[in-house]
Amino acid sequence: MKSDFLKYQAQTSPHPLAMEVSHANGSYIYDTQNKAYLDFVAGVSATPLGHNHPKVINAIKEQLDKYMHVMVYGEYAQKAPVELTKLLAKNLPYPLEKTYLTNSGTEAIEGALKLAKRATGRSEIISANNAYHGNTMGSMSVMGYEDRKQAFRPLLPDVRFITFNNEDDLNLITTKTAGVILETIQGGAGFIQPENGYLEKVRKRCDAVGALLILDEIQPGIGRTGTLFGFENYNCIPDILVIGKGLGGGMPIGAFTASTEHMDLLQNNPKLGHITTFGGHPVIAASALATLKEITESDLMAQALEKEQLFRKLLVHPLITDIRGIGLMLAVMTPSADITNKVILQSQDQGLILFWLLFEPRAVRITPPLTISNEEIIKGCNIILDILNKIQSQINNNK
Ligand SMILES: Cc1ncc(COP(=O)(O)O)c(C=O)c1O
Repeated sequence: MKSDFLKYQAQTSPHPLAMEVSHANGSYIYDTQNKAYLDFVAGVSATPLGHNHPKVINAIKEQLDKYMHVMVYGEYAQKAPVELTKLLAKNLPYPLEKTYLTNSGTEAIEGALKLAKRATGRSEIISANNAYHGNTMGSMSVMGYEDRKQAFRPLLPDVRFITFNNEDDLNLITTKTAGVILETIQGGAGFIQPENGYLEKVRKRCDAVGALLILDEIQPGIGRTGTLFGFENYNCIPDILVIGKGLGGGMPIGAFTASTEHMDLLQNNPKLGHITTFGGHPVIAASALATLKEITESDLMAQALEKEQLFRKLLVHPLITDIRGIGLMLAVMTPSADITNKVILQSQDQGLILFWLLFEPRAVRITPPLTISNEEIIKGCNIILDILNKIQSQINNNK
């Protein structure tokens, strides 16, 4: 399978991990040799309830037995997407009430950028250096990492960049600004949290100049930071909230939520202001609804903070310089990209899945399913510590 994978399936990096997957269950993925891999990554934060959670699987199967795709987005009332958007509204603060369901995170970002322009009649978008919001043209235009977008220019005009957590830069947000888009916690940049009331200050500035604040919660959202959405930790409510990844419970999804007043603008001038064939797909929505119910009705969010403490207690080593992040969105920092690469690749050999962050080569991503057990955390951390000990002795021997 590996050679066909490399030959026929488009590749995006020179050295994909290329594990041949057989099946997955709970916190484990199994390869075709039936070797078990403990999953500390959760499909890059996309499977908050682990693999093949019975409630999610049942919801999908029940929906499959009723119907799959019946009509393009927005025409027919279908129970799963209706209940999903209603449950999101129930769990979100005013004025976040109406949700548009999309097929992916980047598509939700596109919708959010369009809505900010439509609502303000302005064109300028402000984003942050080192931000990642997806890979379609609009999302890539607001990506704050030139190396990865240079080859695809020209992109959207009227995009300016500020530095996350830099208050002086807030003056760049003006009456020309349609929207300010920020990740609540910068993901690709290295799990950088807002500091010193930064998001509150951005909110204030947006209010002062009439710009909309878009918060991208595609990574921190859905319980990972101990609250359903990361912004709840920072006393700042966005005008447009963008969700994805974990919401689908392992199925592809994106969503953007705004006030009714703003969202209704997509119906007129022009009508069909944002359309999609498959957005709000009933099977995907059924999976998302079961996932969201489980996360909001269980104590998994509280557990995320306890599990963070366990990771922090265990992952103490001279080669760990810092652990960034909150809850089960953690970036273990090593002194160099080389050490980080060794940790990630050797852990794979030893049956533990770790991964990189997009723009911070020293970071080891730890974003396990929220359902991971304490025993599994201990087991995985011991693998990491063993690898770090070996790397440390090699460094000592080479001195
Ligand atoms: C913060 C953030 N925004 C947007 C996206 C894009 O989501 P998708 O890959 O579903 O298009 C991602 C994906 O990694 C992300 O982490």
